[in-house]
Amino acid sequence: MMQEFGHIKEVKGKLLLPGDKSVSHRAVMFASLARGNSVIHNCLNADDVNSTIRCFKQLGCDIERNGGLVKVAGRGLKGFKKPDGNLYAGNSGTTSRLISGILCAQDFETTITGDESLSMRPMKRIIAPLESMGAVISASDKFTLPLTIKPSSNLHTIDYEMEVASAQVKSAVLLAGLHLEGITRVIEKETSRNHTENLLGLKVLEQEGKRIIEVSRNNYPSPFEMTVPSDISSAAFLIVLALLSGSSELVLENVLLNPTRTGILDVLIRMGADIEITGEKLNNGEKTGTLVVRNSKLVNCAIEKEIIPNIIDEIPILSVAGVFAEGKFEIRNAKELRFKESDRIKALCENYRYIGLEVEEFEDGFSVEGDLTGRKLIFESYNDHRIAMAFAVLSMLRSDGGKVNNFNCVEISNPAFLSQAASVAH
Ligand code: S3P
Repeated sequence: MMQEFGHIKEVKGKLLLPGDKSVSHRAVMFASLARGNSVIHNCLNADDVNSTIRCFKQLGCDIERNGGLVKVAGRGLKGFKKPDGNLYAGNSGTTSRLISGILCAQDFETTITGDESLSMRPMKRIIAPLESMGAVISASDKFTLPLTIKPSSNLHTIDYEMEVASAQVKSAVLLAGLHLEGITRVIEKETSRNHTENLLGLKVLEQEGKRIIEVSRNNYPSPFEMTVPSDISSAAFLIVLALLSGSSELVLENVLLNPTRTGILDVLIRMGADIEITGEKLNNGEKTGTLVVRNSKLVNCAIEKEIIPNIIDEIPILSVAGVFAEGKFEIRNAKELRFKESDRIKALCENYRYIGLEVEEFEDGFSVEGDLTGRKLIFESYNDHRIAMAFAVLSMLRSDGGKVNNFNCVEISNPAFLSQAASVAH
């Protein structure tokens, strides 16, 4: 589906956005692990989280959804049943990688499959540490899906030093360790999002600039009730739209402000963004607050290596902010972007090149600058939700608007993107 966007003059109003994708996935998974009934409010109702729900239903959990309200009857330790057929993870890296850690500890065989994009994404990063814990996993020759996970008679704890900054890899190891009596440790130099640690209440030690995360069967979850804070990654698109349209004031309530996710706000504020944060509180171990975003003049700034894991999902929309900001936008140390729902470095560079901007592509990033006026623009989403929404925002900011091809992929993380934008953009 091709979606057309007209120019918007200003953004005014208040929004309560749907639940954070990473937290929603984990809430459903941990509720499914716990024995008994859990209730999740504001659980993201989008394809990715629904892939997680579908997989846990196949494993025997009774899960009911009514909009953002999800009720889960979890099965408890060793309570899952062998699914009929394969577990289909759709487009969702988080579903496939986190569930792999859980499935290693079950006493039945399962096969995980995914859509075309997920079937090309690297899985060796979870297979290697899980195999070193004694898991029995087979994959395609290229270490991609489908993955078949067999029962292991020798699953054991490990101390695992992370090789890539990835919350999905970290969580896969922690979730396998959650089923074992002894302590499994994950050691990370670069801090990736820490929702698994927060929601399971894991012990985290800081030592010589590294974080050591400990997990054992003692951390196995009990049923709970929680409200998922609004997704800061979805908020980022509307934040940039408000920052760059005339006399805007956008209020976003109950936004997830976990410090491993707020890098986007730090970088935008350094670029000159007027973003006020009020009413901060703690909610199930996660910080939340209200954001007030006002129209601002932005200037590109250096983006340091350490912050990359924290902004990895926001780089597409950050680069759009960079295109409208003074100076050249440049991002490096971000090779991980090549392994997302699309090769995001390629997807961004090709779209920017296509509309005549000056682009330099690197193995681990790119730079872009130039003038956007006076061209008719059609962008390609590469079936990647974050690329689609980034170029929707770019289109709305241009005086002649623009179009995004294959826009329906926004169903992956924010099916209501168009109505949210329409309710505040004028
Ligand atoms: C996620 C971790 C990140 C992120 C993804 C969600 C998670 O992936 O890009 O959208 O929920 O754990 P990596 O772990 O591959 O960096």
